[in-house]
Amino acid sequence: AAEALRMNVTSDLPVICQVTAKHTAGIKCNVAAFMPEAAGFDGVSDRSALQEFSVSNSESFWAAVARQRLSWIRPFHTVQDCDLSRGEIKWFVGGQLNVSVNCLDRHVHTCPERVALIWERDESGSEVKVTYRSLLEMTCRLGNLLRRHGVKRGDCVTIYMPTCPLAVASMLACARIGAAHNVVFAGFSAEALAERIRDAQSGTVITVNQGVRGGKVTELKKTVDTAVQSCPAVQQVFVAMRTENPVAMTARDVAMEEEMLKEDVVCEPAAMDSEDVLFLLYTSGSTGKPKGLVHTQAGYLLYAALTHRYVFSYHDGDVFGCVADIGWITGHSYSVYGPLANGGTTVLFESTPIYPDPGRYWEMVQRLKINQFYGAPTAIRLLLKYGDEWVHKYDRSTLKTLGSVGEPINTEAWEWYHRVVGDGRCPVVDTWWQTETGGICISPRPSDADAEIVPGMAMRPFFSIKPTLMDTEGKVLTSNDVSGALCIAQPWPGMARTIHNNHQRFIETYCRPHPGYFFTGDGAYRSKEGYYQITGRLDDVINVSGHRIGTAEIEDVLNQCAAVAESAVIGYSHDLKGQGVYAFVVLKNDVEVQGAALCQQLNNMVSKKIAKYACPDFIQVFVQRLPKTRSGKIMRRVLRKVVERDLDGVGDLSTLDDPTAVQEIIQGHGDLC
Ligand code: WT7
Repeated sequence: AAEALRMNVTSDLPVICQVTAKHTAGIKCNVAAFMPEAAGFDGVSDRSALQEFSVSNSESFWAAVARQRLSWIRPFHTVQDCDLSRGEIKWFVGGQLNVSVNCLDRHVHTCPERVALIWERDESGSEVKVTYRSLLEMTCRLGNLLRRHGVKRGDCVTIYMPTCPLAVASMLACARIGAAHNVVFAGFSAEALAERIRDAQSGTVITVNQGVRGGKVTELKKTVDTAVQSCPAVQQVFVAMRTENPVAMTARDVAMEEEMLKEDVVCEPAAMDSEDVLFLLYTSGSTGKPKGLVHTQAGYLLYAALTHRYVFSYHDGDVFGCVADIGWITGHSYSVYGPLANGGTTVLFESTPIYPDPGRYWEMVQRLKINQFYGAPTAIRLLLKYGDEWVHKYDRSTLKTLGSVGEPINTEAWEWYHRVVGDGRCPVVDTWWQTETGGICISPRPSDADAEIVPGMAMRPFFSIKPTLMDTEGKVLTSNDVSGALCIAQPWPGMARTIHNNHQRFIETYCRPHPGYFFTGDGAYRSKEGYYQITGRLDDVINVSGHRIGTAEIEDVLNQCAAVAESAVIGYSHDLKGQGVYAFVVLKNDVEVQGAALCQQLNNMVSKKIAKYACPDFIQVFVQRLPKTRSGKIMRRVLRKVVERDLDGVGDLSTLDDPTAVQEIIQGHGDLC
């Protein structure tokens, strides 16, 4: 079938410009050798001048990069048209391109047999390699299949799959035909999935019969069956086979691989406007339901590609190993879009850090000859506890850069990552960013190869990023050695454009708190040297093992229990998970319950309505009342101090409605499940 792929698949496509060797030829300047796109920038002779230029001339910077790094069907006429205070963000206006062509076809023209994906299946040692040619073929067949089933430009397709080549092909097939994708992490429950399908107004779902992770089988198709019962708009479910076990199929279900084989390997790519939607991705906020952040075509792809290339110093021929799940933004930007836009070879990791044993990552690094490894601090902390032998057992000499993402990396974990995993040879890049930012915004690289890296600090803004710290009054902090609310002072191409169906919420969350700035929700410290360190969320969002969750979402589930009058959930510092979940539960009058049974019930509810990772580590039941202000707001600051056992730090209770509430909770601290 591979032979059947007609190589002229996109030869008719007018390709305006591509990065080729000719852009670098004859350039003596240091900066241009480092970054060919920068060759034409006036007066930019070193890296710090380049950074400076990208911030003060962000339009010229991005225009040059966009023309050279992406293949356009029609060139853009306006680099950007943004008004941060109104939440209006547009980049590369007038331009048209197709993201799948940028990720596939242009590489098939130059290096069809290069490996695009290495699928590191759950069963270790059974990896599957997919070349650019065959990924394009899969994508085209799928694109045609979706089209034949009525999926149109502008529709939204929900993808509920483990990390695997068909999931990537599904994302790219959507991009090919101009549909938006909505990947939902396959660890989410049926109810959480249903909520996201409905909010996205998705009529099509793509899934697999079963998932396999850490040796355990999960019934993903059954979960979809349950979910779509409450999603009347869903007309079709495509089912791929991850295992050999058949599952019950209904009239609505389509056997994906079987039907793909009937499709042509050529699929006309849609000419998409720069600002058409590429995907939605749901993430938690401090209040309300999860929000569907919207990312668009050109700006997102460009930002993912450029950060992938320069933060990790990714070069042609390298094997890039991001172990995130495609259900999160990290998987989108650094397992899929960034590496593929750059013609890279990217690993799709389906397993867990300790399956079949705690040597999994490093055995994989040795076997696949991984050059850049990108993972989460929570996994590093876990592996550190198993000891150095699991690392030493394997050859890690191919590693060049180690990346960390998703939560603060504590010094001990950083040092171990650097010293043991990287043998002290590899720069560790702690990368700060969010679903909202589309790609990495602060990290120690790019910078000169010998520039210092401070453990546990994300340090330096990426090209064109202008971090700004605000004090509690909303004034810009201009000096160093200060902490404040982290904002970004000018738009960049990778930022989210809106919240699906709720632009007002987008404006209120990100644009209103500090007019004219993008507000991240995080706090940060700027050191004497001007380096940034992320200090954590300023809102009621917590980070459990790198998974972001709103405390209000968990409270909402707990409050649905018949015995519960009200609840308060807070995050507390947890050795392995970064943050753990601690719930205070006030029961309704006169209910007779057993603490242990109630806790069990509450945990089941959270895992059924959200996901396992959101389950409380501790539930304090039999709480008489929650500490509240006179206006009825729960004083979480006080609860946090109680959990941290920092009773002196409880501080001023004078605004409390009834100060005895705190005493009661402290005394009841032992009643835990
Ligand atoms: C939140 C975003 C970034 C992709 C994965 C998570 C926290 C992220 C770091 C870091 C300290 C970090 C922030 C941020 N966070 N990276 N390097 N150091 N904190 O994306 O689910 O949208 O979560 O994760 O609090 O706001 P996300």
